Amino acid sequence: MEIYMYSEPQTSMHTCRCTDGCAPPACPFSLNRKESCPLNTGIPASLPYNQRRRSGSCQDPNPRCLDSWPLCSVYLSSFQEMIKKTSMYSHPLIHHLMDPEAHKEIRENYDDKQVVTEIMARCFTPTLITTTSWEGFHFVGHEIRITEAMDCYGAVVWPSALVLCYFLETNAKQYNMIDKNVIEIGAGTGLVSIVASLLGAHVTATDLPELLGNLQYNISRNTKMKSKHLPQVKELSWGVALDKNFPRSSNNFDYILAADVVYAHPFLEELLVTFDHLCKETTIIIWVMKFRLEKENKFVDRFKELFDLEEISSFPSLDIKLYKAMKKNRRSA
Ligand SMILES: C[S@@+](CC[C@H](N)C(=O)[O-])C[C@H]1O[C@@H](n2cnc3c(N)ncnc32)[C@H](O)[C@@H]1O
Repeated sequence: MEIYMYSEPQTSMHTCRCTDGCAPPACPFSLNRKESCPLNTGIPASLPYNQRRRSGSCQDPNPRCLDSWPLCSVYLSSFQEMIKKTSMYSHPLIHHLMDPEAHKEIRENYDDKQVVTEIMARCFTPTLITTTSWEGFHFVGHEIRITEAMDCYGAVVWPSALVLCYFLETNAKQYNMIDKNVIEIGAGTGLVSIVASLLGAHVTATDLPELLGNLQYNISRNTKMKSKHLPQVKELSWGVALDKNFPRSSNNFDYILAADVVYAHPFLEELLVTFDHLCKETTIIIWVMKFRLEKENKFVDRFKELFDLEEISSFPSLDIKLYKAMKKNRRSA
């Protein structure tokens, strides 16, 4: 199991991502990693986090998982058993867990956990040290190698991108990409565009100018001789020169893809304008939103003023939702 620490864009919070899909936010006790989980099998709170790994006996049936988070987030039923045996009933969380209404939520969280585990298992890191660093992903029967950099948000693969890739792969019949015109905005390292291309789409991957070199490299490396149509890489700074670079008359996109494009940046209004500009009456937007701060989360309400929004999946343990959207008041769909 690998654990990655990374900062959330524009916030001081740190989140951990683990290839087993262990996601600390699901467990109220693991939010502060200095605390020990009540389910924990004897790992003292005083033990520094990095020494907790590989200590204690993890009950997770997945033998790769040696961390204490899965104890917290997966074993809610054992958690309930445990709290029955203790005198912690007065804690509000306990009341929540004992409430039958809350069981549905727990079940949903458990299902979420299973899918998230499956999604995160698509990542792998090279077993050999190589001169160029890359991270690997398995989608659409291909091993996809992504070169990342640590200097900007678009230079790493974010969990939302994995959620979107998994969705495209597992819903390839309903959302058929073969020969479809697809544009991705805020493509970052290009993983989503690569997957759409491997699924047969004509893809245009777009991002800010400084991202395009790495984006082009990843896209070429992973689609050459593999994709039916060679993807294009193009600059698209939200709200900038849209009429010139993407004239409405020639925009003919079947799908607009977007993963984790809403966070604390100053271009949310321009992002909305860009969605609107690229979207025709028949265009389907597939957008994966990571919920972080209240201010940016309000973007969803602004978005709903222009688009009919449908929630397709929710992954509470990642604070991620996957939406499908189409232009409001369209004549035909
Ligand atoms: C959090 S990253 C997500 C990257 C990728 N979609 C993923 O999920 O891995 C946000 C992306 O939006 C891009 N971005 C941010 N502001 C932008 C702007 N004003 N115009 C175009 N792209 C922008 C960033 O360069 C970055 O690639």
